[in-house]
Amino acid sequence: MILAGGSGSRLLPLTRVTNKHLLPVYDRPMIYYPIEQLAGAGIDRIMIVTGGNHAGEFLRLLGNGSAFGLRHLDYAYQEGVGGIADALGLTEWFAGGEPIAVMLGDNIFEFSVAPIVRRFLDSPAGARIVLTEVDNPGSYGIAVMEDGQLVRVVEKPKDPPSRLAVTGLYLYDAGVFDLLKGLTPSARGELEITDVNNLYLKKGLLRYDTMPGYWADCGESIRMLQRAAELVAERGANKPMPAERKL
Ligand code: DAU
Repeated sequence: MILAGGSGSRLLPLTRVTNKHLLPVYDRPMIYYPIEQLAGAGIDRIMIVTGGNHAGEFLRLLGNGSAFGLRHLDYAYQEGVGGIADALGLTEWFAGGEPIAVMLGDNIFEFSVAPIVRRFLDSPAGARIVLTEVDNPGSYGIAVMEDGQLVRVVEKPKDPPSRLAVTGLYLYDAGVFDLLKGLTPSARGELEITDVNNLYLKKGLLRYDTMPGYWADCGESIRMLQRAAELVAERGANKPMPAERKL
């Protein structure tokens, strides 16, 4: 699933007349990166969840996904901006009881996540998240580590407990959809993916990998959007993980 709804308010005025995920990042529209990332990890059935006034543009841009080597590209429409976990809830029928990969449509990784997807599929129970070190931890979901163990995730902490950000790739077993049904909106009025991850943690069912290379959340600010374009131009994106870089 690729989540490409939301209001894009942090990128105003660039998002006033279009959807954030259709904006260019170097030589491609932003949404190309997560599609290429998942396709490169061997996933050939993808559902894109979008919303707002520009949903039709995704169909015009991406068609049936064959240009990306996909067997199937589906679309779902999120009414309003109910949060990442709300958008994910729209994909339950598409998941059909199978494990899923969820990627945020504004995330770009330097390296391929294929090894992480493979690890999850080796024992696809519970959930797997991907951490990476950042300089601005107040802007993301952040891992709380105690004695080398992940004990909690906190969303955009004022006083960050670590610099390990939770990136926008989540791997879940089919149980995620039941967890979503028990969520309540956060202070910002959204169903939070961080709450889902903490529920898995409480059950002892959340594992994680630490990703090397750069990671960009293009929706974080216009400066980050610009920086992402520079990083892609200089270093590429979704590249095979070099053997010497360990997860
Ligand atoms: O990028 C990683 C971060 O993404 C994580 O570290 C945070 O824990 C997680 O909450 C999320 O934070 P953001 O504040 O950056 O989320 P944002 O509102 O930008 O939404 C992320 C993506 O999800 C974006 O590509 C649009 C999509 N989305 C968002 C909302 C609120 C939807 O499809 N529907 C929604 O209702």
